[in-house]
Parts: sequence; C-alpha cells; structure tokens
Amino acid sequence: SQTTIAVLVGSLRKESFNRKLADALARLAPSDVTFEQLEIGDLPLYNQDDDDNQADAVKRLKSELQSADGVLFVTPEYNRSVSGVLKNAIDHASRPYGKSAFAGKPAGVIGVSVGAIGTAMAQQHLRNILAYLDMPTLNQPEAFIHAKDGLFDDAGNIGPASKEFLQGWVDSFLGWVTRHSAR
Ligand code: FNR
Repeated sequence: SQTTIAVLVGSLRKESFNRKLADALARLAPSDVTFEQLEIGDLPLYNQDDDDNQADAVKRLKSELQSADGVLFVTPEYNRSVSGVLKNAIDHASRPYGKSAFAGKPAGVIGVSVGAIGTAMAQQHLRNILAYLDMPTLNQPEAFIHAKDGLFDDAGNIGPASKEFLQGWVDSFLGWVTRHSAR
C-alpha cells in the first residue's frame, strides 16, 4: 500500500538548500512512498486567541499532517535553533490543546547548513519539541549535512560523496515510519 510522508521544510527561501535536500531525499524513496512538501509560508503568525477559529491554511496543514504516515522535518539552523517559520508551523499544528496533528506520528529530523556543524544544534532543539509532541523520532543514523560544492549534482540529486549515506538514512527513516505508523 501507499505510504505518505509529510515534509516540513523550515526555510521559505527560493534557493533553499533544505528544500533542495527535501527534493533530493524524496527521489531516494521507493515508488510506493510519496513525499509531500507542505506549504507553511502562508500561515499567519500563531495567536492563541484564534485556537477555536483556525485559519484555512492552518486547517489544511493539520489535515495534511493527519493523513500522513510520518513526518519529515528538514530544518535549517537559525541562530543555533530552528527557524521561526518552522516553529510557527509546529505551534499551529499542535493546537488547540488535545487536538495536535502530531501526536504519535513517527518523525525524522534532518537539515543542511552552510555552517560547520550542519544544523546539529537546530536538530537537537527540534528533538526536544518533538519529544513534547509525543512523536517517536528516529535517533540513528543522525544526519548533519554541510552545504558544500557537490552535495547536489546538476540534476538536483544527491551527489556521489553523500549518496550512499543519505540512501541509508532514507531507508532507516522509512523503516522507522513503517514500525511506528498507526495508519
Ligand atoms: C543563519 N545561518 C546559520 N547557519 C548555521 O549553521 N548556524 C546558525 O546558527 C545560523 N544562523 C542563521 C541565522 C539566520 C537568521 C540566517 C538567515 C542564517 C546560515 C544558514 O545555514 C544558511 O542561511 C542556510 O542557507 C539556510 O538554509 P536554507 O535557507 O538554504 O535552506
């Protein structure tokens, strides 16, 4: 049967390395797995006053997450944490209290950065959030990706230096989703 992975990319930048990484990872998955990048750029800023009257964009995000078998977070590192746009999306989809779209969904965390530590601190902050949201999250292998020449080939696929490693990562993540998915 078909497996759907909801993908949250924490950068709105047109040439985002994290979006490119998400695109390339999707191509490493077998044909019965769909990676669906969810729009988070049109969400309003989270305001708890709106919890019982969520915007259409929020309702859409939540229903896309709820119908997915697993969630892949592809995060940049902004000031040693996740980006504000990603946290905003997470806060929206976690509310109202007791109606989170995340509870119990298996998750994976990955990210790419121009900085030397390859989003390690952002990912660690994100893991803390996902623990609170009760998402079983793949622990190993970890993947801290450094954006350097050759990471992607001309066609946007993962380049030769990282291909085997990231294929292994995708395989582990999808195995994790299969083991932990309630759907
Ligand atoms: C950054 N960048 C960055 N990089 C890093 O490794 N650690 C960090 O803490 C930060 N902090 C940071 C803050 C802000 C506000 C910006 C805009 C950028 C650099 C970041 O890795 C780089 O811009 C990436 O290209 C962002 O990911 P996308 O947009 O390419 O996906």
